[in-house]
Amino acid sequence: MRVALGVSGGVAAYKAAELVRKLQQEGLDVQVIMTESAREFITPLTFAALTGQKVITEMFGGEAHSSANVESAIEHIAVAQRIDLLAVAPATANTIAKMARGVADDFLTTLYLATTAPVVVAPAMNVNMWEHAATQENVETLRARGVHVVPPEEGYLACGMTGAGRLASVDAIAAAVMGRLGIAHDLQEETIIVTAGPTCEDIDPVRFLTNRSSGKMGYALAQAAVRRGAEVILISGPTRLDPPQGVQFVSVRNTEQMHRAVLAHFPRATALIMAAAVADYRPVALQTKKMKRVSGRLNLELEPTVDILADAARGKGDRVLIGFAAETENVAEHARGKLESKQADLIVANDVTAEGAGFDHDTNVITLYSRDGSEKAFPRMPKIDAAHRILDQLRALRQATGQAAAAERAR
Ligand code: PMT
Repeated sequence: MRVALGVSGGVAAYKAAELVRKLQQEGLDVQVIMTESAREFITPLTFAALTGQKVITEMFGGEAHSSANVESAIEHIAVAQRIDLLAVAPATANTIAKMARGVADDFLTTLYLATTAPVVVAPAMNVNMWEHAATQENVETLRARGVHVVPPEEGYLACGMTGAGRLASVDAIAAAVMGRLGIAHDLQEETIIVTAGPTCEDIDPVRFLTNRSSGKMGYALAQAAVRRGAEVILISGPTRLDPPQGVQFVSVRNTEQMHRAVLAHFPRATALIMAAAVADYRPVALQTKKMKRVSGRLNLELEPTVDILADAARGKGDRVLIGFAAETENVAEHARGKLESKQADLIVANDVTAEGAGFDHDTNVITLYSRDGSEKAFPRMPKIDAAHRILDQLRALRQATGQAAAAERAR
């Protein structure tokens, strides 16, 4: 998701650098826009270095602007269309006044008028300016329009006075941004193991049995869970993906290693999501030397691997266990069968023959099968969105098990 961060001119402008970092850690892409007076307090270079993107400082492209530079002249419209949220922090009394009155005399205030994305404003100023009737009226006007105002804190101010006016904490502003983006920190209590990718069962030093899993679904789940405040242990078979920021990453190769890693982290986990495509069979014997071609057919003897999900279910406690079912036919029947055979709380079925679903796609088409007999089908959506729908269900299941345990204790 892409956030435009407007920085206006105040001593607290330097804190915007910390806010950029925090939003990036939440997985957001940040485009910084600075007013002219903000540049008196902090240089655009600081934000450019942090974001790796050009900082927008001028309405018409500044010195580089020429009459032929049409792109630059309409950049505010392009940015307005690209962003998912506009945050202004710190917001001075002047910027707030311009936003309230619809004055569009610089890039930031023009963007405010041009965007339909949600807006978060974090004011910072001298206490008298904050308490002035004009500022309070302007803030109320913004609130009435649906702007989320993160009120300034009380404390010692740069001007030497004490009172309300200090920029709210970076955490409070980031929480408001995440809240408006619909990314709540509602999994803060959870420690979630997510498995992802394929397993590789070696035949000899150069050959192995594997499958087409790219890891995208599992990595999306890990990323979404971190964003929602969970502690995440991502146990992954070999993939080409970079682990999402903020996860504890465990790299494994085969089913046996994945099994061991899941069991090692299981005692402190509150949920397990098995998105990995785990091998059901492995060669009975691992050849230490490269197997030579033989004349005629070659038979490879396979033995079943351990069923990781079913094994974890034996020591389940009040953990929530979620399995996947990658199916090519009779999806509902097989998914319900796996609910039972693996004693899972939820099976996420994907018909891997459907367009844009399953292996290696950036999208998935999922149906959630629960133990109470209910099922929820979702249309094709990006894997990150599918991940959020699965985590919504995980949260509901955890709440239900918590309530059941409380009722049991009360008896
Ligand atoms: O990685 P991507 O390219 O994004 O593709 C995503 C996906 C298609 C791999 C994913 O959405 C998915 O369906 N993963 C599960 C695939 C699979 O192995 O399904 P299954 O029906 O064979 O297994 C059922 C469940 O048991 C799965 O949760 C699996 O992780 C688990 N299992 C299977 C075998 C085994 N030995 N131990 C297990 O725990």
